[in-house]
Amino acid sequence: MISKLYFYTKIFYLLISRRLIPMETIKEDYNSLASTYDEYFSNITRPHSQELVRRLNINSSATVLDLACGTGTITAELRKYICPKGKIIAVDSSEQMINKAKDKINEKNVEFICGGMLGILDECQENSFDCVTCGWAIGYASPLELLKKIKRVLKQNGKIGIIENRKDTLSPLRETGIKVMQRYPQHILYVMDLTLHLPRDERHLERLYKKAGLKSLEVWEGEAKFSFKDGREVLNWVLHTGASAGFDRMMDPKVKNKCDNAFIEIIERDYKTKEGINISHKYVAGIAERI
Ligand SMILES: C[S@@+](CC[C@H](N)C(=O)[O-])C[C@H]1O[C@@H](n2cnc3c(N)ncnc32)[C@H](O)[C@@H]1O
Repeated sequence: MISKLYFYTKIFYLLISRRLIPMETIKEDYNSLASTYDEYFSNITRPHSQELVRRLNINSSATVLDLACGTGTITAELRKYICPKGKIIAVDSSEQMINKAKDKINEKNVEFICGGMLGILDECQENSFDCVTCGWAIGYASPLELLKKIKRVLKQNGKIGIIENRKDTLSPLRETGIKVMQRYPQHILYVMDLTLHLPRDERHLERLYKKAGLKSLEVWEGEAKFSFKDGREVLNWVLHTGASAGFDRMMDPKVKNKCDNAFIEIIERDYKTKEGINISHKYVAGIAERI
């Protein structure tokens, strides 16, 4: 009880004193995740991202901006719809994620830029893109600020396609992470505000589009279930995917082993069944237009 109280007080204090995981740390984490990211995470997200691109119905001569392109899953899909007359600019803050994307896509009409998406949007001319995509990354910014900046660079009737984790995705992992922090509140150094930025459901994404002055064309949600043999297998998965980026650095590194062991113990205690540990990946996606 006392450690829970200490935990909430500490989180509140860190939030109001803006001790947030810096963007530089997220970038470093994605640099080290780049080599395993596709195997552990893109295999889960790819079909949903492909569906988003299909529904965008992109014109073959379109100019498209792919924000937070990562290892290029969405960029590669966009490339299939765009003929050599069209152009794709793909942006990501992690050099290593971009290097992986470059290994897959080597085309004259695809340009990669390494940098933060908000800053790059500010550098783009107004009305310059037919389409902007952002896959699994609006949580790394204030979503409304990001959507407003995207609207500025879209041409009239230009489309935006967003796909993102729902706030309640992978909930056993998040709840276990919170319980680990409650066990060692004195070692929490930073907070990560990504979850606060995630859309609750498709209606939430629709409202965000509206607030940004965009016309929502369609929104949808989906879910994929998978299971792990035990807690160690879950931890291994988490540490090889974007799900751990930033979060892993909230605690003092000197208690990393203790935290990893506590994670395994708690997730097995609270979620292990005869079938293993079941996890549900929930996402929301939507397409809007600049009117
Ligand atoms: C979960 S991955 C998604 C990658 C890709 N869109 C996909 O569908 O696989 C999130 C990506 O966002 C990038 N990222 C995080 N914050 C960013 C920022 N502020 N600006 C640009 N990229 C960012 C990370 O480097 C990472 O590659």
